[in-house]
Amino acid sequence: MALSPSGPHGLVRTATSVLAAFAVILSGLGNHRAAAAPAPVSAGSPSGHHHQSLDTRQANIGKPVAFFLAGDSTTAAQSSTGGGWGPGFLSTLDTTRGATGRNFAKDGATTVSFVADGLWAQLTSSARLAVAEGRDTFVTIQFGHNDKNPAKGISLDAYQANLARMAGDVAALGATPILVTPLTKRLFDTNTTPPRVDDDLAWQQNRTLVAAVQGGFPFVDLHRRSMDYVNAIGPASAAAYSRVPGDNVHINARGSVVFGRLVADLVSKNLPRTGAWIKKDAELTGKIQAGVPA
Ligand SMILES: *[C@@H]1O[C@H](CO)[C@@H](O)[C@H](O)[C@H]1NC(C)=O
Repeated sequence: MALSPSGPHGLVRTATSVLAAFAVILSGLGNHRAAAAPAPVSAGSPSGHHHQSLDTRQANIGKPVAFFLAGDSTTAAQSSTGGGWGPGFLSTLDTTRGATGRNFAKDGATTVSFVADGLWAQLTSSARLAVAEGRDTFVTIQFGHNDKNPAKGISLDAYQANLARMAGDVAALGATPILVTPLTKRLFDTNTTPPRVDDDLAWQQNRTLVAAVQGGFPFVDLHRRSMDYVNAIGPASAAAYSRVPGDNVHINARGSVVFGRLVADLVSKNLPRTGAWIKKDAELTGKIQAGVPA
């Protein structure tokens, strides 16, 4: 696939509306689709186990949710080297009614290092335990900011295959994977009027969506929605969410609340059964939808 200078933005825009419809179909079908799809599962996963995991998932629907987050610094907790949407998202879970979650995202992680460093094994064993405890268990998977670094040597094909394999692993253990396209950066092209985000993650968005559609996995297009929001509020308001002034990648505590809310609203829209466990914030949701600073 050639990387044209203009990028796949037009195609992605068009495909995204098709995908929005697809997401509705997916959520309408519940998770039968995700589990039944010929998704790449871990080698040696017997099909009997696969069916058993589908039964477990069905039995856990309606039970309190557990969310496990896989990703890089744009999902991770706020720190001196990172800051993402994970903490804000987890704060939307209704823990008073038994919902729970844990953020495994790590600064600098790629789809390769997250597995090599043992974080994927830790996450999947926590997810397996949650399934066994009778929780309706979800795993969000968002990578790309570091996978795209040429020094990592991860091709787009490998990135896509790694995402699909992770999603397949989650489905095989009786949980529901949610592929998440990368949070936008807040780096603007100031030569345009009004200024627009200078998007260098369009191919990672594309490959995450392709992995989701090909595998029949649920997804949320955070990249598209976060970029639309950042474009709507403009550079000055977007900068207020930066971890520190000038950091156009990582977000501060308020940014985590805002973009975590954006993720929560997308998740409850695309996977409606999660909505009962996600606390509402009509004011914040309204501001994000209206494209005004929050
Ligand atoms: C991904 O990019 C390819 C190649 O440009 C395009 O054909 C396809 O429609 C895109 N898919 C999505 C989901 O954006």
